[in-house]
Parts: sequence; C-alpha cells; structure tokens
Amino acid sequence: MKLFIDTANVNEIREAEAWGVICGVTTNPSLIAREGRDFVEVVKEITSIVDGPISAEVISLEHEGMIKEARELAKIHKNIVIKIPMTIEGLKAVKVLSKEGIKTNVTLIFSSAQALLAARAGATYVSPFLGRLDDVGMDGMYLIEEIVNIFDNYGIETEIIAASIRNPIHVEKAALAGAHIATVPFNVLQQMTKHPLTDIGIDRFLKDWEKVPKK
Ligand code: E4P
Repeated sequence: MKLFIDTANVNEIREAEAWGVICGVTTNPSLIAREGRDFVEVVKEITSIVDGPISAEVISLEHEGMIKEARELAKIHKNIVIKIPMTIEGLKAVKVLSKEGIKTNVTLIFSSAQALLAARAGATYVSPFLGRLDDVGMDGMYLIEEIVNIFDNYGIETEIIAASIRNPIHVEKAALAGAHIATVPFNVLQQMTKHPLTDIGIDRFLKDWEKVPKK
C-alpha cells in the first residue's frame, strides 16, 4: 500500500517527503482554509515538493463548473488530480474529464455503491472516508474491505485511497484490507514511527555502548 499525506501544510509535506515515505498528497477545502494562503499558490508549492499525484478539490456543484475548474487546475502541473465530490453532477464531470485524460479522485465516498459508480464513470481514484463513518458509529474499515472485493471481482483499475484516517491502526487495517493507498495526516505519520520498545531499545544500546572499552 502506498502512502499519501493528507494536508495542505507545506512544512508537514516537506518533512514527510524527507522521510522518503510518501508519494502523493491530498488536500481539501478545509485543509486549504487552515493554511490562510491562496489556493493556487499552495497547490503550486506542493507540486514543487512531491513528484506524485496531488489532489486539489473543485468547489462548483454543477458539472459544467467542476469541469471548468478542473481544466484550470490541471494546467498547474502534470501531477494534479482533480478531487470531485460523489454526486450525480460529479459523475458527469468525471466522465468528461477522464476522456480528456485528466485524472480524478472521487471524494466523500461512504458506500460501496458510490465507489462502483465513481469507478464506472472513469475515476482514477476513489476516496472512502473511514474515520467519518467510525465517527457516526459505523464500521469504516468494512467499507474499505467491500470496495476492495468488488473492484477485485471485476478487475476494476480505479485505485482505492483509504481516507479520513485517524490513527496508525486505520493505516495497518487498510493495508490488510488491500487498499492501494492510505492518505494519512502528518500527526498519524508521526505516531506510526513510534513504539515504546524502540525507544527502550535505543536507550539500552546507548547505555551498553558506554561499557565498551574505548582506546
Ligand atoms: C481525503 O482526501 C480527505 O482530505 C480527508 O481524508 C478527510 O479527512 P477528515 O475526515 O479527517 O476531514
């Protein structure tokens, strides 16, 4: 499973990129708003940091508007992927954009039926939001498993991005379920590096090293 970072913060993206673990970035209007910067300026800067798919989301609700925004965003860089909400208008936009060779990431997926529709419309990626399902007392991971099974059954090439990740266990379980990608917030990437036994082990090695006779 590949890892993307789910943020619009360029410092976090630079840091995760330096670890060598991420190969893409997802943003959304809420993440962009947090940065208090111009949308296009932020997206351009991200493309200069990570050489991989960078998702940027449209705001229009009608397919004509989505297509117009998507064409403009796609001009920014060859790695831009257009994030489109899972609606009928979104499906219409995905159909047109996929024929134009513009990559799409259909977002706000909460059922496997929605994922199947997005894939059939020509989506490059679908983003099921597992954390938000967990938040309302549903089993987000089960949705990932269902979509993996359905896409496997029919040889569907649309890649599944496990999104709305809240903790390292989400990442591990999404990988076990067969998601192609998990898009992970920076704090969860940091949590993934940690294990108490690693810290204890380093401490013990350093203490023992002090006992080694030095010339
Ligand atoms: C996915 O691409 C979204 O940006 C993101 O994962 C949403 O996560 P949230 O539920 O934590 O806002």
